[in-house]
Amino acid sequence: MNDSITFIVLGATGDLARRKLLPAIYYLLKEKQIYNFVLIGAALSKATVEEMLLPVRDYIKNIDEDIWQQLQKHTYYQQINFLQQHDFMLFHKNIEKIEQQQYLMGNRLVYCATSSKFFCEITDNLATSGIVKNQDTLDYDRWHCIVYEKPFGHDYVSAHQINECIEKYFEEDQIYRADHYLTKEVVSNITLMRFTNCVLEPLWNHKYIEHVQIELNEEHGVGNRGRYYDDYGALRDVVQNHMLELVALIAMESPLKLTGESIREQRIYVLKRIRFSDGIRGQYKGYRDEQYIDPHSQTETFALLQLFVDTPRWKQVPFYLKTGKRLHKRDTVIHIRFKEVECLLTKTCPSDTNWLTIRIAPEGVFSLTLNAKKPGHIEKVVPIEMSFCHSCKFGYRDSQAYEVLLKEVILAQRSVSIRFDEIEFAWNIIDDIVAKKLPLYTYKQGLHGPQEMHDFFTKYNVRWKI
Ligand code: BG6
Repeated sequence: MNDSITFIVLGATGDLARRKLLPAIYYLLKEKQIYNFVLIGAALSKATVEEMLLPVRDYIKNIDEDIWQQLQKHTYYQQINFLQQHDFMLFHKNIEKIEQQQYLMGNRLVYCATSSKFFCEITDNLATSGIVKNQDTLDYDRWHCIVYEKPFGHDYVSAHQINECIEKYFEEDQIYRADHYLTKEVVSNITLMRFTNCVLEPLWNHKYIEHVQIELNEEHGVGNRGRYYDDYGALRDVVQNHMLELVALIAMESPLKLTGESIREQRIYVLKRIRFSDGIRGQYKGYRDEQYIDPHSQTETFALLQLFVDTPRWKQVPFYLKTGKRLHKRDTVIHIRFKEVECLLTKTCPSDTNWLTIRIAPEGVFSLTLNAKKPGHIEKVVPIEMSFCHSCKFGYRDSQAYEVLLKEVILAQRSVSIRFDEIEFAWNIIDDIVAKKLPLYTYKQGLHGPQEMHDFFTKYNVRWKI
């Protein structure tokens, strides 16, 4: 891979950097995907390299101390105010000095792991200080690129404002709008699985599918991200991006080719046609007592939605999205429920229909539930599960999606970037839901969600897959 890289992480002491991004850089080094590099972290807090790196160790299993030492040797930290141009000027001088000392060419990957509230100012400051230059002004063999973490904006209008700021300075092929869900192994397998197996496509429509359930359940709460989270909530934090992208991958039509741009076109086709129908929101008890949370906060930490995709393929098939923090367990999963078949048995009938399950976390598993005869009984039917454990066969770690993301950005693979129109359509959907002011119920931590969730299931006659 590219052998001279300056990683610049803005927001380097934050939750994302600590849990996912910096572990991903450690693994890239361990797996010899990067050689000649430096990692320069920057954030508002006063910290040393050791202080920035120490908490990262908790997110790396069986740490290899030699690799860790190497990482530490190549790491720098600078305190910076994202709103101060002067700070960026000094920062740039420092970056150049480090690159010279380390004999680096000045290929720069800047990762904005900050709230999108700062994206505009940060972009301005990166451009005017010269830290990120327009690709057209760089020598032929050097590159600069900038990755913006999701959510890109707070709503449709702010996303537009940010995009305008960015486009003023940089070429589209230098800009990456990230959603790490798209680089999760199991997620990127969805399109491949759908369109390379002829047994699935004939059944993949309203004639055979009753409904689709998509869940992103988390055990942890908002941790030290209260300031960000209280302003965003579950709808903006994960539905606008990760969950709608999953809907798009499940609902899309066959792309011309299984390549980035064709797949993206099809995802957009779906996003344009998603219609919100009904939903409830929830907030876990104790949320308002957490650090940086408004004691009267009306922000949701849970959402349950019913959506429709208005395409001929999905006529009247509901898509249920459920997400929440401080729930019973961590589980990101898609369950596709097939319709009932006519019962030809004379004594009993199957108690369940077929399900296709795509589990994304905590481990990747594809499984199909079929009905089979119970041994020793003439007409007794039991559901059996045929499963393929993706993580058991290929391994899994939490930072993997970010490793792939960084690797692809270094290789200039545009497929990992969300196109701006995709973001626009997703915000349209969320803005519409937010405007509906869905009821907000509280729920006890460690449960599946608020009590009212069961009323919602009853209302729509949904048997939730557990
Ligand atoms: C992030 C959200 O984008 O995704 C977090 O900001 C959430 O709130 C996380 O916890 C979930 O991602 P993963 O990869 O841990 O399932």
